[in-house]
Amino acid sequence: MTAAFEAALSEFARLIEEGLAARLDDIPRPGETTRPARLLAAMRHAALAGGKRLRPFLLAEVARLLNPGLTAEDLMPAATAIECLHCYSLVHDDLPAMDDDALRRGRPTVHVAYDEATAILAGDGLLTLAFDLLSDPVCHPDPAIRAALVLDLARAGGLGGMVGGQMLDLAAEGRFGDGAAPNENDIRRLQAMKTGALIRAATVMGARLGGASEGEVSRFGRFGEIIGLAFQLADDLLDVTATESEMGKAVAKDAAHGKGTLVAFLGIDAVRAELDKLVAEATELLAPWGTRSEMLAAAAHFVAERRR
Ligand code: IPE
Ligand code: IPE
Ligand code: MG
Ligand code: MG
Ligand code: MG
Repeated sequence: MTAAFEAALSEFARLIEEGLAARLDDIPRPGETTRPARLLAAMRHAALAGGKRLRPFLLAEVARLLNPGLTAEDLMPAATAIECLHCYSLVHDDLPAMDDDALRRGRPTVHVAYDEATAILAGDGLLTLAFDLLSDPVCHPDPAIRAALVLDLARAGGLGGMVGGQMLDLAAEGRFGDGAAPNENDIRRLQAMKTGALIRAATVMGARLGGASEGEVSRFGRFGEIIGLAFQLADDLLDVTATESEMGKAVAKDAAHGKGTLVAFLGIDAVRAELDKLVAEATELLAPWGTRSEMLAAAAHFVAERRR
């Protein structure tokens, strides 16, 4: 299954790349005036050429599990939307004022390749494009579904989700000199927000696009929450155990920044044991779909066992 999963993920990554490239051309859309070349180039740098594309893959796999009639093309607007929001979060995460990283996806970060102001605007442009894609009628014929997708992504990406989690993450480094050092639960909560929320949104949005019942939406929400937690645990583990060339980004930076991670709190072995438990829990949620859910089960394994 690992080989089949890797093949499916890279084929889907190719489609996402094409979908993003098509939306990031220099032709102004109705309502736009002009697309400034430097900003467009920085957005393309941020969004194209690299990335596992795991969030859009999850969205599409959940949707197709519930409705096998859906094609990749049907799902492309929502899939590219979640990837745009993710790419924006990386551009801003890497800024000097945030994590100050120079390497991302094996290439210079946007503020290094361009400049800081352009990187901020490129992030803003990708964030806005995410909601452009979701609210466009091409995304889904039913306006109620489109509105639900917009709300899912807004809640996951904003104050009480990814952005809020990024704030708590910086605070946990002790930057603002306010309050006690974070405890284990504080770290779990900030990780669920900064990383888990968007992965959960991917599976919830996929469920909606697949025509899920409310019960199915919440089951896939739980599935996303579990693999979202596993995803950040693995990221923190890889920060300690992987190389820069495997990851395409700097490693050993969490300890250097005094970032409280569960790896620092619990140790590598305990985190590996928790990852196994999370994969088992995630797989169990897929039981009603039997062998048809093998690809999603493989995704859960990948999230926990990945080296990139
Ligand atoms: C990196 O996300 C940021 C985290 C939330 C840990 P990914 O590991 O999915 O990054 P890409 O998209 O594959 O580069
Ligand atoms: C990133 O967490 C979470 C985001 C919302 C981007 P990290 O700061 O650990 O991600 P990397 O290690 O830089 O990819
Ligand atoms: Mg960060
Ligand atoms: Mg970072
Ligand atoms: Mg990290």
